[in-house]
Amino acid sequence: MSKAIENLQSKIKEAKLGGGQIRIEKQHKKKKLTARERIAYFLDEGSFEEMGMLVTHRTTDFNMQSQQFYGDGVVTGYGTVNERLVYVYAQDFTVFGGALSETHAEKICKIMDKAVQVGAPIIGLNDSGGARIQEGVRSLGGYADIFYRNVQASGVVPQISAIMGPCAGGAVYSPAMTDFTIMVQDTSYMFVTGPNVVKTVTNEEVSSEELGGASAHSTKSGVTHFTAQNDIDCLMQIKKLLSYIPQNNQEKPSDLKIDLDEEFREELENIIPENANKPYDMHEVINGIIDADSFYEVHKDYADNILVGFSRIGGKSVGIVANQPMSLAGVLDVDASKKAARFVRFCDAFNIPLLVLVDVPGFLPGTDQEWNGIILHGAKLLYALSEATVPRITVITRKAYGGAYDVMNSKHIGADLNFAWPNAEIAVMGAKGASEIIFRKEISQAANPEEKLLEKEAEYAETFANPYKAAQRGFVDEVILPKETRRKLIKAFNMLKNKEVLRPKRKHGNIPL
Ligand code: COA
Repeated sequence: MSKAIENLQSKIKEAKLGGGQIRIEKQHKKKKLTARERIAYFLDEGSFEEMGMLVTHRTTDFNMQSQQFYGDGVVTGYGTVNERLVYVYAQDFTVFGGALSETHAEKICKIMDKAVQVGAPIIGLNDSGGARIQEGVRSLGGYADIFYRNVQASGVVPQISAIMGPCAGGAVYSPAMTDFTIMVQDTSYMFVTGPNVVKTVTNEEVSSEELGGASAHSTKSGVTHFTAQNDIDCLMQIKKLLSYIPQNNQEKPSDLKIDLDEEFREELENIIPENANKPYDMHEVINGIIDADSFYEVHKDYADNILVGFSRIGGKSVGIVANQPMSLAGVLDVDASKKAARFVRFCDAFNIPLLVLVDVPGFLPGTDQEWNGIILHGAKLLYALSEATVPRITVITRKAYGGAYDVMNSKHIGADLNFAWPNAEIAVMGAKGASEIIFRKEISQAANPEEKLLEKEAEYAETFANPYKAAQRGFVDEVILPKETRRKLIKAFNMLKNKEVLRPKRKHGNIPL
């Protein structure tokens, strides 16, 4: 073997060891895989091609020239997931705690630029102590270079961030600007400032896990869309997520070839309770419509009065937004509106058709909601759906009341097909509330006001608590039997598959933020 080849092989061997065996063992002790192990597990076997393996930092402050590691704390390159091209970077915690230097950032930017030019997803596996402290502002500049690219890539190629270790300070803003974030339970956290700073500034005592662990961000803040049990589960979930989405905004998600089961789904006939005030689980409706086991829920533990997620219907990838009567009667509030709006915008950006299942009693009343801007946040969902040009289908399973009827993909805001089940109630509000207002005088003057209220309530319900007024107007295209919903949807999404809508030229709209 020539000396030159030997020299190269020794460099590659050294690079593959990252910060060295001792630090690798430390990483394993924390139940974390190394950057290279993560990439190897994530990509199709043997598909990874590394770029910039021999990059080193250029810092001389604090005698840093004496501490050089090939790769400079991040492994970058491309490979395939189920034979589809993806670009990936994995921060290597064994090298300066994965801290981001100028050169580390340059490596990430290089693959981001390529991903946008080629049109393939960018997957970031984050595990980092933040800005490389020895590099000062150069490292901050590196972050900003990444943030800028996150924004330029937004809506062009899908961007997914896995948080597989620390992610603090400025580092959090790259994941925040990508399409999806997934956090690993117990080994990852995200915060703008850690517990020590929190204690100094606000006097609050809080642990890292409480402040910014996976459960805090999946339930309280909604910062993470998914949580994973461990590294392997995290990587598996990213693969699953990728299976529903296309490579870029010029492509459509690929259809799965399945044996089409267009049969009636009898189980759908018995889900809606006789009593309109009784809850039921919208998951049952979803499962009765979609291809078996295909619902991948997004933001599962956040704002659970609305459900969003990817699924397949007749082999086609579809984004589902559905009110959940099991939680707060499926009402729209600040968090639910934000959650659904963001999901709708992702689907629209990446050509994923939308199915909206409606059982909504309205917006949540109260000072908490009003002062937290339900007007503004509810408008986000209205705006997102109104601007979406992908195929959009609505099924009203029960209530569609008030302004929420308009918001939930009504015909008026551009839905392509609107179905309603026979027991749907499409009205300004529930029969009782409505009667108390419009028949107030008549009721109060009656010999028996309670009886009168019941009588008027029944009269209002008879007039409006049904889908037929809306069907007469064409606001509902068809009133369908629950059991035929799947068949109707398979046909309808197929009919709409080549839908195209051209909008007037503008720089961008001004979604209420
Ligand atoms: N810059 C440079 N080196 C860093 C670093 C950073 N931001 N963060 C961690 N490192 C280095 C450590 O010096 C250590 O080096 P060594 O292996 O040569 O000893 C190595 O990374 C691992 O860090 P360590 O502190 O031993 O790991 P830990 O798991 O106990 O703690 C952190 C991890 C991230 C909580 C801790 O390292 C930390 O608080 N880092 C600073 C975070 C920060 O303030 N970043 C800047 C603001 S964005």
